[in-house]
Amino acid sequence: MSKALRYLAATRPEAATNLLGFYKHSVQALDDKTRHLIQIVTKISVGTERGLRQYAPKALKAGATKEEILDAVLMAFPAAGLNKVLDAIVVLNELELLPEVPDAEPAPAADPVLGALTDFPIKKMQCVSRATGDVIVYRPDETSVKVYDNHCSHARTSLCKGIDHGEQVECRIHNWVFDLASGKCVGPDPAGKPSLREVPAEVRDGQVVVTG
Ligand code: FES
Repeated sequence: MSKALRYLAATRPEAATNLLGFYKHSVQALDDKTRHLIQIVTKISVGTERGLRQYAPKALKAGATKEEILDAVLMAFPAAGLNKVLDAIVVLNELELLPEVPDAEPAPAADPVLGALTDFPIKKMQCVSRATGDVIVYRPDETSVKVYDNHCSHARTSLCKGIDHGEQVECRIHNWVFDLASGKCVGPDPAGKPSLREVPAEVRDGQVVVTG
């Protein structure tokens, strides 16, 4: 449940219960896959990136193929217009839910050097763009460095666009908070939530270098 719905459930429990009950019980004949594909169309049409990030993975889990998800995105075009459809394709790309491009060129190799250690302030999240995608660089202290894949471990949104709390970063989509020294999810209700994906890296001759 999102932070906003949790807030509503706490402050307007009757309204929230009825609202959630409507969502739960109103659709009876459609299977989950069809429902989630339609939700993709509606989320794009009303312009909610958060909703698209929520329902595109659900559609995949319910058995939709990446081609079918792309079809749903394109079906939003008459109502949503080109810009919202293109924005949706960017989100699907981040979620790795786009079908492969036929005969695509192999991705260029990424430079393993992220920068001089001294370029990264201690206890301050920094993002570095690489050919293979953005990474988060974080120095817990003078000598060590941590590098993480930029994607939230929940639904792969960009944490470089998240809320920087210094030693923690908060995802803007469903507000999971990650400790940058350990990569662990620390809230809300962190039990069982996956950590950030750590990228192997070391300091070599004063440079932060990706090793894996
Ligand atoms: S995408 Fe859900 S918390 Fe980040």
